[in-house]
Amino acid sequence: MSNPSLLILPGDGIGAEVMAEVQRVIGWFGDKRGLAFDVSEDLVGGAAYDAHGTPLHDDTMARAQEVDAVLLGAVGGPKYDDLDFSVKPERGLLRLRKEMDLFANLRPAQCFDALADFSSLKKDIVAGLDIMIVRELTSGSYFGEPRGIFEEDGQRVGINTQRYTEAEIDRVARSAFELARRRNGKVCSMEKANVMESGILWREVVTAVHKDYADVELSHMYADNGAMQLVRAPKQFDVILTDNLFGDILSDCAAMLTGSLGMLPSASLGAPMENGRPKALYEPVHGSAPDIMGQGKANPIACILSFAMALRYSFDQGTEAARLETAIEGVLADGVRTGDLLGDANTTAVSTSGMTDAILAKLDASL
Ligand code: NAD
Ligand code: IPM
Ligand code: MN
Repeated sequence: MSNPSLLILPGDGIGAEVMAEVQRVIGWFGDKRGLAFDVSEDLVGGAAYDAHGTPLHDDTMARAQEVDAVLLGAVGGPKYDDLDFSVKPERGLLRLRKEMDLFANLRPAQCFDALADFSSLKKDIVAGLDIMIVRELTSGSYFGEPRGIFEEDGQRVGINTQRYTEAEIDRVARSAFELARRRNGKVCSMEKANVMESGILWREVVTAVHKDYADVELSHMYADNGAMQLVRAPKQFDVILTDNLFGDILSDCAAMLTGSLGMLPSASLGAPMENGRPKALYEPVHGSAPDIMGQGKANPIACILSFAMALRYSFDQGTEAARLETAIEGVLADGVRTGDLLGDANTTAVSTSGMTDAILAKLDASL
């Protein structure tokens, strides 16, 4: 049988820097655990625009549809700010999500003990935190029609449309309930049913789907209150189910509960393929971080943890995923820190590759 296939799309800025570290980790699992992957690499975002005049070449899109999993770094950067909207780096990522139909975006926010002191919130509020945000990823205001900038009564008007069908809400709700069953059995659904019709439908459909998951506890919350509750008492949550735009914002907010945006991985999952595994793309929640690119300062953990999610959700290697997560936890417990985890310019930090060196040494010690 051939090896499982992995398409690597490093992208722009620190995306390429952290992905180079993930390649080392993938190499370790090949050498030391006999987990060989058929790895191919291609361009996305600004890098693809520079080479082909498009942020995602059709051949890359086709390859992404064929492989067992895609691993993406990050896209975007100031160099591309003035490009036409249709070819902006971010459009490449959005096309991948849409055409692969990756409707369920899992964004776990876990606070490692060693970092509980580092969050901008008090230690008691975040210590032991383990929540999972399930963000709908292929619909809502990111894709709804009509959209565009139009001329109206002598002035321009910018339009995006928040739109959800029952089927779109139903399928992502099922993903959230299934996950809750394997976690702490609670789903909190967040929308704005007080002011938006799409929110009313969202709440109705989630409540109906819940009938198939009576063993899971369901609550509803307006998304603005949800943002407040996330910083007031985040440990009240287990799984948070929300739409595309609210999920984007709430997950960046949740990132700071863990200490840094450089810590948050994600998995974007679609419907099962013929082999029973979901179509999948794994990427850190953070972006291309132009302010620190090219300086060896990027924290590679979010991207390495995204590979751990790939091991778990695409390759049935839960034990190896746990080995990697434990190694990262161990390194943090040893006090190894990239600059984003220090906050104090006078303290010395390890570089991007220094962090990976420490993780690989921990992995070696786990054998
Ligand atoms: P960003 O996530 O790139 O950076 C926000 C802040 O967090 C910056 O100060 C950055 O230095 C810091 N940061 C992020 N990741 C880090 C890491 N791994 N280690 C240390 N520090 C880290 O968000 P932004 O500045 O708003 O966006 C920059 C570009 O990235 C934009 O073009 C945006 O569209 C794009 N973006 C892409 C993705 C993606 O590809 N999935 C996600 C978010 C933003
Ligand atoms: C994210 C990013 C993306 C989003 C952008 C880069 C398209 O912010 O993955 O969180 O808005 O979904
Ligand atoms: Mn975002």
